[in-house]
Amino acid sequence: MCGIVGYVGGQCALDVVLAGLRRLEYRGYDSAGVAVLADDGGLAAAKKAGKLANLEKELADRPLPSGPTGIGHTRWATHGGPTDANAHPHLDNAGRVAVVHNGIIENFAELRAELAERGHALASETDTEVVSHLLSESFSSCGDLAEAMRQVCRRLEGAFTLVAVHADEPDVVVGARRNSPLVVGVGDGENFLASDVAAFIAHTREAIELGQDQVVELRRDGVVVTDFDGAPADVRPYHVDWDASAAEKGGYDYFMLKEIAEQPKAVADTLLGRIDETGTLSLDEVRIPAAELREVDKVVVVACGTAYHAGLIAKYAIEHWTRIPCETELASEFRYRDPILDQRTLVIAVSQSGETMDTLMALRHAREQGAKVLAICNTNGSTIPRESDAVLYTHAGPEVAVASTKAFLTQLVACYLVALYLGQVRGTKWGDEVRGVVRELSEIAREVEEVLETMEPVRELARSLADKNTVLFLGRHVGYPVALEGALKLKELAYMHAEGFAAGELKHGPIALIEKDVPVVVVVPSPRGRSVLHDKIVSNIQEIRARGARTIVIAERGDAAVRPYADHLIEIPPTPVLLQPLVATVPLQVFACELATARGNEVDQPRNLAKSVTVE
Ligand code: M6R
Repeated sequence: MCGIVGYVGGQCALDVVLAGLRRLEYRGYDSAGVAVLADDGGLAAAKKAGKLANLEKELADRPLPSGPTGIGHTRWATHGGPTDANAHPHLDNAGRVAVVHNGIIENFAELRAELAERGHALASETDTEVVSHLLSESFSSCGDLAEAMRQVCRRLEGAFTLVAVHADEPDVVVGARRNSPLVVGVGDGENFLASDVAAFIAHTREAIELGQDQVVELRRDGVVVTDFDGAPADVRPYHVDWDASAAEKGGYDYFMLKEIAEQPKAVADTLLGRIDETGTLSLDEVRIPAAELREVDKVVVVACGTAYHAGLIAKYAIEHWTRIPCETELASEFRYRDPILDQRTLVIAVSQSGETMDTLMALRHAREQGAKVLAICNTNGSTIPRESDAVLYTHAGPEVAVASTKAFLTQLVACYLVALYLGQVRGTKWGDEVRGVVRELSEIAREVEEVLETMEPVRELARSLADKNTVLFLGRHVGYPVALEGALKLKELAYMHAEGFAAGELKHGPIALIEKDVPVVVVVPSPRGRSVLHDKIVSNIQEIRARGARTIVIAERGDAAVRPYADHLIEIPPTPVLLQPLVATVPLQVFACELATARGNEVDQPRNLAKSVTVE
């Protein structure tokens, strides 16, 4: 939600900031704006509702001066609609200070009333604007932007990342962070601030993670970090292990297509180095001592959206391989129902971004209750792993498209690894069994590749359904979360009514939705192994077909039993039952992406959405 960039250095700040915003636009695209400090000592700003392209057009008609210091913002609207007036940056009445913000300032109404009483005229409906006015007042009395920021932050409640410049300190950018992300990029004679390293990766791969409640003062030749009281703060520098090309489209029309294609590598990278020569899983980052893991008597997985679906699949693997009861819960619901947690509960927080506020709040609640928290995360140094007891990073590389694809597959791999690791530590899985599953997992990358090579009929089918209003998805066992994920992808990309159901539940109500020609996608479990499950779903397919549904069946290659009942058959390679989601999800991603394109929708930036949801 909202992307922020700040720059001070030897280049034209406007160019650097705009390039950074292009890379952060996935975070929100309701409006965009920039402010630069001109060489003549003035502050100039421009902002425009809509996508960044609107702002760029405005800047082409009315250029801003080139100066070495600037800030920028791309917005996902919370307080106030997506208008020019509500776009960031927000300035004070004298036009000397400019502020951009990500988050929600919860006490803004009270601060706004107070400012109005002191004669400030506020021009927008946002919560952010109060900060520019408060900063202006504080700066007038202390003459130091970093100190003014500390004073203001002590008055704010809620979640906020703020970045500000002041015309009277033209070589300084100041940032502050509480709950929402902010990273420093350390360059040579130049420094950067951004919500995500992608904004400055073309300039530097050296970064500093800012902690909770810290203020950073950025100059060309240095970075000073303090807490909100001004005490020097400990910071954690790190090297970003991917480069600018990873965050480019690389010849694909959309990031989503590129990210779907990157899945075999993402899966393989997430497995890399996690099993030693004796076949033992060694998850070094899981710093929870084995003795404590042996004591765990309950696992709770918390996550949102696609990550939640990965968590639902994790439940099957964890319970099957470790025999520990496992619940998977929507992070946004978790803490409000007063869950039963104690020192023997292991909470697993799954998040691509590591910044999802609902998941962060769930993990904080879990830790307050004494539970241990293990994060599964794709973003190095983000808040969720920082605040967890341990982390297992997925190695999907940057995921830019709003619809999650490669992150999902790598979350699944990480969940399987955690389940096997728990089994190994607790002795419910022996070395040869762990090795066997890891070997099967290692083969999945090639199988995903195989699925990707056979997707043309799926694309064709998707195009033929472009004028439908509803698509239903059915699955059983681990196929049920896959059905939910297929439906979510279709909703967010194609804006169609799409629902996922447990196939056995259909007869308890949803079957009433089936009418002539409604497309129903059915994820069929392997006919090998648990054949009861397979037989049941074959009956379910017959039931819906008898009522006129157009059946789109995803089944294992060679599954002859489904063939007579499939109007469209999508074959996937044979896999062990628990691992099937890794291959069964891929056609659903391709299906949703193609349907979105056929309906003329924006694939990478679907309406109303943002990649990282940093508000509750
Ligand atoms: O960054 P996270 O994994 O915590 O994000 C969770 C959800 O917001 C995310 O998976 C969302 O549902 C995706 N847009 C779905 O494609």
